[in-house]
Amino acid sequence: AAFQEKYRPQFHFSPAEHWMNDPNGMVYYEGEYHLFYQHYPEASVWGPMHWGHAISKDLVHWEHMPIALYPDSLGYIFSGSAVVDWKNTSGFGTAENPPLVAFFTYHNPDIEQAKQIEIESQGVAYSIDKGRTWIKYDKNPVLKNPGIRDFRDPKVFWHEESGQWIMSVASGQTITFYGSKNCLDWSFLSEFGKGQGCHDGVWECPDLLPLKVKDSDETKWVLLVNINPGGPAGGSATQYFVGDFDGKTFSSDQKKTFWMDHGKDNYAGVTWSDAPGGRQILIGWMNNWEYAGAKPCVKWSGAATFPRELGLVKDESIYLLTSEPVKELDALYGESVTLDAMKVSKSALLSDKFEFGKAPIEIKLTFNQKDNTQLGFASRYGVRLKNNKGEYITIGYENVDKLFYVDRTNAVGEVFSDKFASVHSVPYIVNTPEVEWTLLIDVASVEFFTAGGRVVVTDVFYPSEPFDTIELFTENGNVELVDGKITEIRSIWK
Ligand code: FRU
Repeated sequence: AAFQEKYRPQFHFSPAEHWMNDPNGMVYYEGEYHLFYQHYPEASVWGPMHWGHAISKDLVHWEHMPIALYPDSLGYIFSGSAVVDWKNTSGFGTAENPPLVAFFTYHNPDIEQAKQIEIESQGVAYSIDKGRTWIKYDKNPVLKNPGIRDFRDPKVFWHEESGQWIMSVASGQTITFYGSKNCLDWSFLSEFGKGQGCHDGVWECPDLLPLKVKDSDETKWVLLVNINPGGPAGGSATQYFVGDFDGKTFSSDQKKTFWMDHGKDNYAGVTWSDAPGGRQILIGWMNNWEYAGAKPCVKWSGAATFPRELGLVKDESIYLLTSEPVKELDALYGESVTLDAMKVSKSALLSDKFEFGKAPIEIKLTFNQKDNTQLGFASRYGVRLKNNKGEYITIGYENVDKLFYVDRTNAVGEVFSDKFASVHSVPYIVNTPEVEWTLLIDVASVEFFTAGGRVVVTDVFYPSEPFDTIELFTENGNVELVDGKITEIRSIWK
């Protein structure tokens, strides 16, 4: 079957060939999920950006499509978004056949070379054939550069209450919001971010979206802000703000910085426009600018995270974003084994309990945390994936400092970047008797979801031989596994 190269993800989207970074323009229309992405079709390194394209009917199997947008005299095609213009406000389609409208950043290399400021502006393209072909608007750009060096990644949605399109634009180290009635004429609304959140890098790829608070009637607005560098694991990461939006201004009284994912490999994630059922589905680039160009892939470079459904919970007075793998994953399930309850002391082999391949798999585990302050409760416990070359990755809970972590200091065969080997942790006090873990393990990545989706760690790995041994481990004591299940995940490419 296709796409069997070493390290080629088997259930995550990746381009057939060459470079990908950010996912772009995700929109659902007429039974199809569109995924565009930052793409350089000439080599497996970053270069003049195009929008690559793929389509899925079920969110898990992807069909590669021809390149949607090519660079032109205004510049490279940087990140952005797409919408269905249902009311044909743009006039690009008709009421019966509404156009898909894409918003992207023009990044002009000539202006950049001339060391001027106005490098980036926002452009528009549209499709009236279900996203198969794209026509650039002939009066681009629709939003000129206001004198900000980094001015990019427009994310647009229709705001019903104020009857207009809202565009969020990453603007240096803030997000600016613009409004438009027709997708083409944009006026400035407000700016968010001065003195709030993390400012250790450039703000990129924003997304402003409403989310219902779990078990309540309350809806809050969440602003995702990607930042590079400055992430909790180093390099690129996604922070978020929970607050209110009135059609003009987003406000958040949040004091501390919250991160969507504490791993090192989930960047530039934004959500689908018009996903059915009002779901907010996010996909990110499973990579980090600290080493993206150095990774050991030749034929292609880069992959997307598995799509995640976002939610919001209120813990006491704090709103927390949650992420869970989309339920469509079950379309890929193959064989499975359930694990008996057991007390784990030192280690317990799991990989002898099933016959199917070692990756890709999903591992679900429920641990008893009730007596975690008692003597005898492990100071660390979790899952270790390893090979017989002495390489391994550990996904654990550290009960002394109370944090979840992924340790990939030994998860690489050939060292390709000194920024790769590290431990990524999330301070979290488990305050429920039991805690459920979900691990999505592909050939070269792990996505770890726990604490009801409040804790997420996404990390890639590059062992010289596949991790074919899977075990539970404890240090200094034991832990009780209440139940567990290991499920084979079938390749999306077969
Ligand atoms: C984020 C980013 C965006 C930009 C794109 C360029 O990873 O830097 O801000 O539009 O990548 O490829």
